[in-house]
Amino acid sequence: MKTESMFQERLKRHHDELRWLYMELYNNSDMFAELCQQLHDYALKRDPELISLDEEREQNPGWFRGNDMLGMMLYIDNFAGNLAGVKEKLAYLSSCNVNCIHLMPFLESPKGRSDGGYAVADFRKVQPELGTMEELFALSQACHKRKINLCMDFVMNHTSEDHPWAKKAREGDGEYMSRYFFYDDPSIPEQYDRTVPQVFPTTAPGNFTYLEEMGYYVMTTFYPYQWDLNYRNPRVFNEMMYNFLYLANQGMDIIRIDAVPYIWKELGTDCRNRKQVHTIVRMMRMICEIVCPGVLLLGEVVMEPAKVAPYFGTVEKPECHMLYNVTTMATTWHTVASRDVRLLKKQMDIVNGLPKEYLFLNYLRCHDDIGWGLDYGTLSGWGMGEVEHKRFLNQYFTGRYAGSVSRGELYNDDPVTQDARFCGTTASMCGLESALYERDVEKLIAAITLDLMLHAYMLTQSGIPMLYSGDEIGQLNDYTYKENENKRQDSRYIHRGEFPWDLAEKRNKKGTHQALIFHGLSRLEKIRRERSVFRSDAAIYTYDVKDQGLLAILRENEEERFIAIFNFSDQERTAWMEESGDWTNLWTGTPIKMVDVLLPAHDFVWASRSKN
Ligand code: GLC
Repeated sequence: MKTESMFQERLKRHHDELRWLYMELYNNSDMFAELCQQLHDYALKRDPELISLDEEREQNPGWFRGNDMLGMMLYIDNFAGNLAGVKEKLAYLSSCNVNCIHLMPFLESPKGRSDGGYAVADFRKVQPELGTMEELFALSQACHKRKINLCMDFVMNHTSEDHPWAKKAREGDGEYMSRYFFYDDPSIPEQYDRTVPQVFPTTAPGNFTYLEEMGYYVMTTFYPYQWDLNYRNPRVFNEMMYNFLYLANQGMDIIRIDAVPYIWKELGTDCRNRKQVHTIVRMMRMICEIVCPGVLLLGEVVMEPAKVAPYFGTVEKPECHMLYNVTTMATTWHTVASRDVRLLKKQMDIVNGLPKEYLFLNYLRCHDDIGWGLDYGTLSGWGMGEVEHKRFLNQYFTGRYAGSVSRGELYNDDPVTQDARFCGTTASMCGLESALYERDVEKLIAAITLDLMLHAYMLTQSGIPMLYSGDEIGQLNDYTYKENENKRQDSRYIHRGEFPWDLAEKRNKKGTHQALIFHGLSRLEKIRRERSVFRSDAAIYTYDVKDQGLLAILRENEEERFIAIFNFSDQERTAWMEESGDWTNLWTGTPIKMVDVLLPAHDFVWASRSKN
């Protein structure tokens, strides 16, 4: 009864706007009525424990904004074999200070045509080797007992060609064909191709796939086996929302909406970030608040900042709760290679100038490639033109540039545009792999120093830091993907290796690189968690220390003044500055004078002064 009245109250709050937007897009009141009925049913089917979590979170809407949040993304099979295995390893994750886990795609997906699980054949079934829906729910319960949040992907732009809708469409069933984009003559695909850029120019060129047996072209923005859904069809929207709610009801705390800018297609445009995408995301946010208000939406918008921020919506009409800080991530690696902090500083000033409500997920590496989406307008003014600079970055990180210690591989090397992206783990990019290979202790220490400095920088930013599984012990690139015919073509698998539990054990052995990284990160994470100055509501500015190799950041609230300085150069540098008062170096726990601070190559300072 209480659930019923809560549902009615929440529906009432959003009904008019939801109806308005729905009718604007679909003009179909029967389908809207069906949607409302289903929202009701999913709300009532929700587990009582999740319902009380919803209520708790509604009372405390900022519950996810604290400085205690720390995420980790991991592949279930690589990390622990299956869902039950992940449940067994929760203690390890807690020991990493992690309280939010992003499980990489785990729904049913065809072998060899899965795009790492991003080609979903059944939104309501776990890939059998990974477990069952019941095990997923059990994992979410175990997580909630430990105050760990669970995040999963909702791949809404496309389905696998093995999804039942796609199978029926392939049989020529018009009802199902209308859920995708089918064309029997090549002229429309050709028109699209004129304005739509390619996501995978080398591994999956073009935006359409010709189905010979049918004599039709089907839109496939990503791989040929990932068929784009047609959100102009209200049946698609409704059914996908039911899938979304079904998954939310399995105990998810965060749902990552995959490739969201792509979901609305319009001939003659680039088919990215159309205004209808925002209508759909806004509707999803309301649907979430009506049925499962404890669930957060994380948007995957891999675009430049001006295109990312609109996905937060407005204060009155919010869309996503959080978004990836993708440009800062790419710019960070640019800074590692160029040893010039100017662009990173500019980028941080832009992010710091955004409303404090905007919550970003900060990260160094994830499961995808690094796309070098940098501000080339600014860079070319400094003599770094786009084509040459990308070439430099790729040479640098593949270790082919003089003085570079990084290891990794190119991704979607496009012979036409000469564009390429990059893959590799944090540790390999920092030089750990080459140092171990050369058995060079000095280089090893340098690599660990850089690795910890970059993590300290990530933890200094406002928002939610997200680790990539394996980075906590300095996991290296994994080249075995080349032996697997299902993976060989996709170099992203270089940083999707199996978690080396034997090497992870070495974190308990003093002096190993695993121990130095693991305990180093742990100390940084604890400092962050314990100090209110790391909360998103603290003031944050970049700070000029008159050296292009050094990035300094000031964080401040009523209690504390905190200054972080990061040396991105490979030489000792001085941060020219003068701050009075008694400062403590939080990293070493010793007093520090914040006057013309000397920093060894790739080192950092986290200094604090109490204001009381
Ligand atoms: C997202 C995922 C990526 C995947 C793509 C297609 O960008 O992060 O791994 O290939 O969507 O679903």
